[in-house]
Amino acid sequence: MIGIIGAMTVEVENLIAAMSDKITQTISEVVYYKGKIENIDCVVAKCGVGKVAAAICAQTMILKYQPSAVINVGVAGGIGENIHIGDIVVSSGLVQHDMDTTAIGDEKGLISGLNIITIPASSRLVDLVVSTARKIYGEGVHVGVIATGDQFISSADKLKNIALEFKASACEMEGGSIAQVCYINHVDFVVIRAISDNADDAANIDFAAFAISSAHKTAELIKNILPGI
Ligand code: ADE
Repeated sequence: MIGIIGAMTVEVENLIAAMSDKITQTISEVVYYKGKIENIDCVVAKCGVGKVAAAICAQTMILKYQPSAVINVGVAGGIGENIHIGDIVVSSGLVQHDMDTTAIGDEKGLISGLNIITIPASSRLVDLVVSTARKIYGEGVHVGVIATGDQFISSADKLKNIALEFKASACEMEGGSIAQVCYINHVDFVVIRAISDNADDAANIDFAAFAISSAHKTAELIKNILPGI
């Protein structure tokens, strides 16, 4: 069983449409779609936006469906000059850029309890996603740190801080939380994001223009990855 989580309808709708033998179950207001995509057993859910919603969904999915791997799919803001709208960023690891206990002497982003800053994604899944994506798209496929926080980043200043502090390639609002849930449950995970904007002062305009096409791109990629998983 492979678990797939997206925050918004556009990020999961094409996967749900591609699912056969569909059964749904609603838990804590999240609908879980269980069935087959490309003949692989999958459970797909739209978790909603932000770290709390994502954690509720990931933990419930793991307890109820016991997925062997969880994929977080969707869009992100690109960080850095070589990351363009429409590109794919595959997570080498996840950081939570809004985790901040520096006032008591910790490093920025340290996850108290786990005592790490970056939660590593499954290298097996990263390799599979990257090789599949490069076969399909050629250029514009990157591996890098993805930074998560409960903020839509739309300012060059904020972006600069995240880039400097975490050397991240993309920012979004769920991946780091899903990563933490998977990490403590010993479940493999990877985050796959297509860039909808550059998290700068024009991010709100770009997001409105490109979120749908970028979201559909990652869903298409998942369909190509599943047979190799
Ligand atoms: N998801 C897509 N673009 C984003 C941004 N700029 N900040 C946070 N999450 C995003």
